[in-house]
Order: sequence, then C-alpha cells, then structure tokens
Amino acid sequence: MTTQYAGETCVLAYSGGLDTSVAVAWLRETLGFEVVTCTGDLGATGDLEAVQRKAIASGARKAIVQDARDIFLRYFVWPALQAGALYEDRYPLATALGRPLLAKLLVDAARAENARFVAHGCTGKGNDQVRFDLAVGALAPDLTVIAPMRGGMNMTRDEEIDYAKKHGIPVEATKKSPYSVDMNLWGRSIEAGVLEDPWGAPPRDVFQWTVEPEEAPAKPREVEIGFDEGVPVTIDGAKVESVDLVQRLNDLAGKHGVGRIDMVEDRLVGIKSREIYEAPAAVLLHQAHRALESLVLTKESLRFKAELGREYAELVYNGLWFSAHHQDLAAYVRSTQRFVSGEVRVRLDRGASTVVGRRSAHSLYSTSLATYGKGDAFDQRASEGFIKVFGLPLRTQARTQALWGEGSEASLDIPKKALTAPRKARPTKRKK
Ligand code: ARG
Repeated sequence: MTTQYAGETCVLAYSGGLDTSVAVAWLRETLGFEVVTCTGDLGATGDLEAVQRKAIASGARKAIVQDARDIFLRYFVWPALQAGALYEDRYPLATALGRPLLAKLLVDAARAENARFVAHGCTGKGNDQVRFDLAVGALAPDLTVIAPMRGGMNMTRDEEIDYAKKHGIPVEATKKSPYSVDMNLWGRSIEAGVLEDPWGAPPRDVFQWTVEPEEAPAKPREVEIGFDEGVPVTIDGAKVESVDLVQRLNDLAGKHGVGRIDMVEDRLVGIKSREIYEAPAAVLLHQAHRALESLVLTKESLRFKAELGREYAELVYNGLWFSAHHQDLAAYVRSTQRFVSGEVRVRLDRGASTVVGRRSAHSLYSTSLATYGKGDAFDQRASEGFIKVFGLPLRTQARTQALWGEGSEASLDIPKKALTAPRKARPTKRKK
C-alpha cells in the first residue's frame, strides 16, 4: 500500500458497473487518492441516484451525476448525422461519439474540484482509452490521466468480485453478460465472448433493442420523419423533442427488426474486431437524412460530402473530436445543411427499412425536367450539342491515339468471330 498521491483528488469517469466501482476503491487504497466520480447519462445509465449511492458506497468522497442526453444529441450526434458519419461505411459511432462528451464532463469536474488527476476504466486494447486520453489532452493538457484497467489494477472478474465484497461495494446478483456492452441513445455496441468468431452468427441473446426480423410484425409500418436543416424534428408530422424522438425511433424501428449491424471493424490500435451493433434510430435517421439530401443538394455537394463524411467518421472513431480538423469539417457540414429541410417516408418491414418517399420546399427535383410524360420542358435537341462538346476529348483521342482501335494494345479481348458470326444452332440430342 502506497500513499503516493495522498491529499490529491482524482476524478474518475464512473459508469456504476463493477470495473469502475472497484477502481474507486483501488485508486483510494492503492494510490492514496481522494476519489470523486463523474457520471454523464447519455441515455443508458438509468437511475442516476442509484449510481450516486453506489459510488459513495465504493468509497468516493463525492459523486457527480448529470443528465447529458440532450447535450449528447445536440452537439455530438446531430453533427455526425449531418455529416453522414458512418465508420467503415456502417457503424453510426454511438460509443465513439459518447466518449468526447464524457471526457468533457470529466475535465469540467476536475476543474471544479481543483484536481490534477482524472481516471477512466478503459482497457489497453480498445479505442475508448484513446478517445478519453486524447480528449482530456486536448481540453486540459495539464491534467494527468490514470487508467487502472490498462495497468496496475490487473484483476480478473472473480478477483474484482472478491475485492468488491471485501470493500463493501455492492455487487449485483444479476449474472454477468457474456459480452462486453456499451450503450447510449445512439446505439448499443456488443463485442467479445462467442462473437470473437467472425464466422459464427450472433446468438439471440446479443440483441436487446431489436427483434428477430421473422418475429417482427407481418404488417409493414411506414414512418414519416421531418428534418429542419439536417436535424430530425418530427415523427409522422408531430414535433418531438430530441431525446424523445430518438427513443421513439429506437423503439419503433427495433420492433420491426431494423437496426442490426454485424461487422468486422478496424480498431485504431491495429486489431480487427468483430462487432455487433444495435442502432435502430441511427440507421433509420442516416438513411432518411441521406434521402433528403439527394433531393436538395447538388451532385457535386453530394459527391464531395460523401468523401468528407468518411473523413469525419474516421476522425470521430479515432478520438480526434477536439481538433481543429474537426472544426473545419464541421463548418463545411453545417453550411451544407441550409436546405436539408423536409420530410422522408421510410417503410419498416421485417428487418428492412426502405425509403419510399421524400419531399422538400428546397427540392432541386423538377418533374417537368424529369418526366417522360406530358409537360416535358427539357429541350432534347440541345442534348446533341452538349454531347458533341462533352465527347470532344474522346473523339480527339480516338483520332490521334487509336486507343480502342483494331490491333491496339487495349483493344477488347473479344474474338471478332464472337461478335459477328451468327451462332450455329446446335442439333439437340434426343433421347431414344
Ligand atoms: N468498437 C466500438 C468502438 O470502438 C464499440 C466499443 C464498445 N466498447 C465496449 N466497451 N464494449 O466505438
């Protein structure tokens, strides 16, 4: 037992789970810290007062709790939705978006408590440690981060339970999930256990927010989502406040089996990892938002923005939320959302979500230009001149470089015969 840090305060990011509860006692006993816990509810914490009681029971001098759900959506989730940020084209980044906010709350608490140390319960193999460490570093480079689970604490789960019992930490009788789970309003992340075999289909007990598609209602449900400058604001025509909106879409889409993601993803620390996500609202909202953008953004904006969305997702995933690069990308994204207002209809049908309609006052879609029916306003004769100019470089190249001509290196490898000789009908063999 050391008292290396006697008299110092350490603010610990606290979830209320076994790991961080044991960490409270460990930081106190082994390092001599006075521990203040800091809990931000991003939509999965449940009873904040119970969390507070547990922190104190674990040995914390003070337990700070905060409902951060609205802040989470407004400042972290909506910008990522507007950016179209999906890591490796699929993961809506629930966990990754939560970390910088939790780190911000942690830093604020450290300032309020005049602490020079903060701590988190992340292991040394994942992305979350990187996100916490980088965010704290960017917000408060003078603070020192302590990560007991990355080194020092070194306890197996059974050892943690023993340690907890010895230190009067309430250990829930509920059986441990066979998976490692993190969740907030934007989604549920599930990994480890049998999921580590990427060939094995995820067992049913992995899922809590979504039903098996074949057990979903046989009757499809259509939902209409309204956006105001890229932020979802209505469901079926009725205005709904953000936290409520996400919860309702999680319920609704989950009930129809929509929102499951099964992927192998690349962690920042170089490991490939099999991940399961449940993100019904996120999947639905990304889909609807993209559909609305296809109506109001130009082709160039859409193309460029898709690139940028990838960069944005990478940055969020890699823990660089509090960077200048993020501010710059976010400024572009915000500007693109000026006209992203309107409604989208999505059909939920046994595990599938399909956009079936979209409309906007800022729509660039013109029926009179698109129609093959009556009222066509498109001047078809003008196409001739357009194609002539558009094709000019190709014709020039054909004349001077004969790229595709006969005998040229790049000529199609199709035997001439195959293109010209009529096929002989083969006599069919008849059974006798
Ligand atoms: N792989 C995801 C990410 O890095 C989810 C991590 C979830 N964390 C956990 N403790 N299960 O964002």
